[in-house]
Amino acid sequence: MMIIIKNNFDIKKMKEVGKLTSNVLEMIKKYVIEGISTKEIDEICHDYIYNKQKVVSACLGYKGYPKSTCISVNDVVCHGIPNKNKILKNGDIVNIDISLKKDGYFGDSSRMFLVGKCSKIAKKLCKITKKSLYSAIKIVKHGIKLNKIGKKIEKIIKKHKFSIVKEYCGHGIGKNFHEEPYVLHYYSPYNKIILKENMIFTIEPMINSGKRNIICDKDKWTIKTKDKSLSAQYEHTILVKKNGYEVLTLRKNENIF
Ligand code: MF3
Ligand code: CO
Repeated sequence: MMIIIKNNFDIKKMKEVGKLTSNVLEMIKKYVIEGISTKEIDEICHDYIYNKQKVVSACLGYKGYPKSTCISVNDVVCHGIPNKNKILKNGDIVNIDISLKKDGYFGDSSRMFLVGKCSKIAKKLCKITKKSLYSAIKIVKHGIKLNKIGKKIEKIIKKHKFSIVKEYCGHGIGKNFHEEPYVLHYYSPYNKIILKENMIFTIEPMINSGKRNIICDKDKWTIKTKDKSLSAQYEHTILVKKNGYEVLTLRKNENIF
């Protein structure tokens, strides 16, 4: 077990890349509308990341991943590959996942976008998934057990009778895209890790409106719900502080409530 505690320089760089990551999600908001393809959204993000921010996507080329963003619509849980034939339509729920690398440091964040008029269940799923992330973020501080995060998320999700995807988890992040600790989004009694000041990790619950089971598409990337129910995800990169937390990927006008 090797959890890297970040030094002041690391934290400064993680704040920089975190801010840029959140800025991509801000920038893309106005384009996520009916009629656009997920390929076009990816291209707008790619152009902004490479030509305006002058940094790189951590997704592009990662284990052979072909695009700069992951865009996951409706029953796609995660790792949706942007595609010219995937056109957003009224009522879609869309996760855009942005991972950046700047000066050797990684930032990682995702959020849902609702296209036009969505169903009641779609709206509720997005709202509760966001609430589960925010509630988990709010308990983060030096000295608490890591498994409290999963416990918190599970309590909220169970209450609303949604389900938690267990195959993916949050992760330490820094000079590695993914490192220890791995952050489960459900309760596990076996996890005895205690959070320490200056750890940095993501929390990124994937929540389904139906059953938790998932399947992998023949493209080897796209993960979908087995029962074709909707899936939502929100993700932030979090710094552990002595008396709390700092969200390194917080967007302008975003409040953790
Ligand atoms: N952003 C994802 C995460 O939260 C990783 C995506 S990897 C990709 O860890 F290759 F699919 F882009
Ligand atoms: Co992540």
